[in-house]
Amino acid sequence: MTRHFLTGEELTSAELVSLLDRALELKADRSASSALEGSSVALVFERPSTRTRVSFEVGVHELGGHPVVLRGDELQLSRGESPRDTALVLSRFVAGIALRTGPHEVVEEVAEHASVPVINMLTREHHPCQVLADLLTLRERFGRLDGLRLAYVGDGNNVTRSLMVLGAKAGVEVAVATPARLALSGNSTGALMTEDPAEAAEGAHAVYTDVWLSMDDDADAADARRELLAPYRLDAALLERARDDAVALHCLPAHPGDEIASDVLYGPRSAVWDQAENRLHVQKALLEFLIGS
Ligand code: CP
Ligand code: NVA
Repeated sequence: MTRHFLTGEELTSAELVSLLDRALELKADRSASSALEGSSVALVFERPSTRTRVSFEVGVHELGGHPVVLRGDELQLSRGESPRDTALVLSRFVAGIALRTGPHEVVEEVAEHASVPVINMLTREHHPCQVLADLLTLRERFGRLDGLRLAYVGDGNNVTRSLMVLGAKAGVEVAVATPARLALSGNSTGALMTEDPAEAAEGAHAVYTDVWLSMDDDADAADARRELLAPYRLDAALLERARDDAVALHCLPAHPGDEIASDVLYGPRSAVWDQAENRLHVQKALLEFLIGS
């Protein structure tokens, strides 16, 4: 059966642990695997990207495969060809399809009709590849995941949701602080939900934030969001609430002075550059798991 990775729900907890184990092996030796030799992988970007684009392209290459990077506007998708037909056709050429788009339904439709594995490289609702890298970063820092406490402060968005889904699978206790107006609806993961950033950060091993305006948010709302979210800035005072050895996390791109203070982003407790690098290693493990022979 073809396996996809759209939300992270697809993995068992045991599979998640072995994926992270494998990512550490691949990090220790970047040329350890040629699992994609002779295969091509389509990487479709209907939204901008720096980290995801480069880490997937380099990752497929390092596994011996050929990345076919496609911008949305150069595909017939942009002229109305359906995700279904795109999936049916791409499946005839490539061994896997990775996609960054807006509505999550698009990746679901592609996965429904593709005969090869489909990977979600970010939708408005989920960003599971990012959170694999986040978990790898925490695992490196603390030597384990089970029982760690992770606080997320700021806008309730795609990254928040994926932290809740995959955090629960990894045994991480997730605490989310957002203004009520920006809270995620529905929480079946057991995460603590609060409006108080200090409560979320209390005793945490990591304090995480993300942009206040995501790619698919209405740009006109930027000023109102900045005002609403100012008390949720990840700054030194908030980090003080966490453990002495706590790290600051951000999936990037960052806006220093808005959602994260500059001295935290560039300071000694920042793990964000490791987070970015870990995209490469963990996605190689994912590609190997889903597509590699
Ligand atoms: N964190 C992340 O997904 O970055 P990009 O948008 O640059 O890919
Ligand atoms: N929440 C952000 C994540 C960017 C990697 C967005 O969707 O724009």
